Amino acid sequence: SASDPATATAKKIVIKQVTVIGGGLMGSGIVQVAAATGHTVVLVDQTEEILKKSRKGIEDSLKRVAKKMFADKPEASSQFIEKTLKNITVSTDPASVVHSADLVVEAIVENLDVKNELFNRLDKFAPEHTIFASNTSSLPITQIANSTSRQDRFGGLHFFNPVPMMKLVEVIKTPMTSQKTFDSLMDFSKALGKTPVVCQDTPGFVVNRLLVPYMLEAVRLYEKGHASKEDIDVAMKLGAGYPMGPFELLDYVGLDTSKFIIDGWHKGDPDNPLFAPSPLLDKLVEEKKLGRKTGEGFYKYH
Ligand code: 3HC
Repeated sequence: SASDPATATAKKIVIKQVTVIGGGLMGSGIVQVAAATGHTVVLVDQTEEILKKSRKGIEDSLKRVAKKMFADKPEASSQFIEKTLKNITVSTDPASVVHSADLVVEAIVENLDVKNELFNRLDKFAPEHTIFASNTSSLPITQIANSTSRQDRFGGLHFFNPVPMMKLVEVIKTPMTSQKTFDSLMDFSKALGKTPVVCQDTPGFVVNRLLVPYMLEAVRLYEKGHASKEDIDVAMKLGAGYPMGPFELLDYVGLDTSKFIIDGWHKGDPDNPLFAPSPLLDKLVEEKKLGRKTGEGFYKYH
């Protein structure tokens, strides 16, 4: 019967072939982890140049992972790297590759119109069974899903930076996401060696909803002169056990990304003091001091 767990399992989609759109830090990380766990992955981005850079990033990160996994076995290590890279192909044309995908994961720019345009187009090229997922950290999954006619086969898969190291995946269910789709996304997350948690389609899901206001509050504390940023970082590392302090983490995530998230929430809920913009964060972003990636944010990097 339909309620028989064996039948229910059989009805889930076993995700083997994955298309990842977006070769930035998150997209590359997702590709790497999926390929390393035996999935066939196509990485898509706009130019060969970007794809080349993504591939280089994946190779570098794989080397770090392999070094840890196969400490004194250089042969096993290079075999693992080679096998993983073999699972990855690249393309600049998503419409021409999604025909073989069980899952499409989108990790492109955080712009609703751009995401909607992409998914609307891919909806026409992807097979019936293909599940679509967005790695957005701040936009409502429902609004992205609505650009397709497969809202039941649409969910959120939210990864964390650095993807190869962070064990969590937030699996986001919209009111339209089917149980079958949801189960398939949960299983896929586990197949990646990650721990999934269930999230509703609410701003920031769980992690960012707690983490971003916390980081912003640290900036406000510093702006008010209540403590130095160095001391706040030391305090949260040694007093709360965080691997990075809030300023180190802001620089790591990117100040532009953090500002984008808080600005979006502020727009939607202007009276919520947790979502209030930070003049200092705004100033640094305006000066193009975006964190590690530009060489300077709250701290300088050389
Ligand atoms: N790829 C592969 N391995 C990596 C890696 C990467 N990108 N980054 C770190 N590692 C591994 C390596 O094995 C490295 O050893 P190696 O330097 O010899 O290669 C080892 O981790 C240790 O790294 P580090 O010495 O550089 O530093 P740490 O011990 O502090 O670990 C960290 C780095 C795992 C990033 C840790 O600092 C951490 O967990 N920081 C917090 C990260 C966090 O909170 N992320 C979530 C951000 S929010 C988000 O992503 C949501 C989005 O929507 C905004």
